[in-house]
Amino acid sequence: MGPSTSMQPGDPASVRQLFEQIAPSYDRLNDTLSLGLHRLWKRQALAYLAPRPGQRLLDLCCGTGDLALLLAAKVRPGGEVLGLDAAAAPLELARQRAAQQAWLPVEFCLGDALATGLAAGRADGAVMAYGLRNLADPQAGLSEMRRLLRPGGRAAVLDFNRPEDPGGIVARFQRFYLRQLVVPLARQADLEAHYAYLEASLARFPTGPQQEALARQAGFSQIRHRPLAGGQMGLLELVA
Ligand SMILES: C[S@@+](CC[C@H](N)C(=O)[O-])C[C@H]1O[C@@H](n2cnc3c(N)ncnc32)[C@H](O)[C@@H]1O
Repeated sequence: MGPSTSMQPGDPASVRQLFEQIAPSYDRLNDTLSLGLHRLWKRQALAYLAPRPGQRLLDLCCGTGDLALLLAAKVRPGGEVLGLDAAAAPLELARQRAAQQAWLPVEFCLGDALATGLAAGRADGAVMAYGLRNLADPQAGLSEMRRLLRPGGRAAVLDFNRPEDPGGIVARFQRFYLRQLVVPLARQADLEAHYAYLEASLARFPTGPQQEALARQAGFSQIRHRPLAGGQMGLLELVA
């Protein structure tokens, strides 16, 4: 494989291949590169979703399943969580994790967040963490998410935030972080090109206000994009 040439943001096959390849290192690198803070940001997404017993929830682009498992613990008794991802390797890790907590009502399936094939209105809520940026068409991803939610259902979409001012302090810190910390650390795990993809994917990612506009077009009734971590991350809070 030629990673530097093959990892094209927006190309589904290339994105899937990337996540198949980094799956064994993904959780460890996530913890290292964010100093564990991704857990805090994910908890902020969960706090917005406010999961309750009995609910049917979705974790779209679930990866190795950390959010799906947290949600599953909240929807007991009577609820269920479905995690969906396009790549098999992270899903296998998610299933292994779930098997260690066999009492949790969670299942994982291979699928495309742009066209899940799931029934409309089946979900009381949905999360998508660090997934939207990886989709070929973020608008289509939000539309599919809206279709899956019952009226009034909430969705929390967490990702890096693309600063509106590319010359501002937030954007400059982000470039420093991605180039001087993320890529060199990933190099040690032989995953330099894979993590260089992060900055490339951010370059084509809608800003917060643009995400709000896309969510409006997708038919959400309440919409707010909230910067987290001093503007490095963003949480799109939605009501169907
Ligand atoms: C950066 S990971 C995030 C994983 C997890 N949600 C987390 O927060 O750690 C992005 C995930 O999106 C998945 N993905 C990318 N495109 C997808 C698509 N079209 N449908 C479903 N999953 C997709 C990838 O396979 C990958 O596991």
